[in-house]
Amino acid sequence: MKGIVLAGGAGTRLYPLTIVTSKQLLPVYDKPMIFYPLSTLMMAGIREILIISTPEDTPRIEELLGDGSKYGLDLSYAVQEKPEGLAQAFTIGRDFIGDDACAMVLGDNIFYGNGLNYKLKDACEAAEAGKATIFGYYVEDPKRFGIMEFKRDPKDKNALKVISVEEKPKQPKSNYAIVGLYFYPKGVSAMADKVKPSARGELEITTLNDMYLKKKKLNAQLLGRGFTWMDAGTFDSLQKATEFVSMIEQYQGMIISSPEEIAYHMGWIDDAKLKDSIKRYGKSPYGKRLESVLEGKVVL
Ligand code: DAU
Repeated sequence: MKGIVLAGGAGTRLYPLTIVTSKQLLPVYDKPMIFYPLSTLMMAGIREILIISTPEDTPRIEELLGDGSKYGLDLSYAVQEKPEGLAQAFTIGRDFIGDDACAMVLGDNIFYGNGLNYKLKDACEAAEAGKATIFGYYVEDPKRFGIMEFKRDPKDKNALKVISVEEKPKQPKSNYAIVGLYFYPKGVSAMADKVKPSARGELEITTLNDMYLKKKKLNAQLLGRGFTWMDAGTFDSLQKATEFVSMIEQYQGMIISSPEEIAYHMGWIDDAKLKDSIKRYGKSPYGKRLESVLEGKVVL
């Protein structure tokens, strides 16, 4: 199973903050935004990850994350020349994906919740077995998102049947946004080749999801009570994400979405590697929290 973090785009909704820097390198409380989506893929157990960004930002992101060895990962990088749509990630990533199943997470999406790793592992298994998975999250403003319409099985409330998917509909058929985390079976690049640009000129991920739906190969799960999903791409949501992370980290003594912590608890890095990171982060609160992980004070 491979993974992609799509971390491009112009970030114009955050101007002037993002004129000379990447949105995905902005801080969300104590760490760069890209740590959050990277951690989500890691929680799914994915270790071979491609980061896609703009020609200007890719070198900066690579400077931060390197080859991934400090997180027990194998990271590679690719450039998206222009933000022509989310589905393009799978044609840019064709050689990287090869004949494997592949997940994708958007570089500004933050996920948090107890049991998320189980949901992610289910999605990985479904992808290995030939089915795509999308996740739905209740929102008040459904016109801003990809939206899924679904039915529940009266016998099993966890079994969802997707009826339709629509990108930013004028008359949304539900309040469930499709979040920026997608799992696809092998062959996703060939499917993405067939996606035609939408009326707004983008290769929409929702068109790709609709193709899997029409082939009866689209699963869905809900991120319900107990889960938090945030898309940190606007001033308000960026500020709320920062407040949320600071509150949980300070009140519960946990670290949210630390690649080093996840790698350590997964057994992908040893004490020596974690110590190297702690040294690199110096006296920062993030470094201090990693020290608590090393001392066994924080458990997953
Ligand atoms: O956040 C979830 C939503 O993300 C979904 O509900 C929608 O179905 C999906 O289309 C997407 O909607 P957005 O309006 O948020 O997409 P946006 O154009 O803002 O792009 C999302 C992120 O991906 C953003 O951080 C920029 C990056 N991006 C975007 C495009 C179009 C790229 O890296 N490359 C691209 O070509």
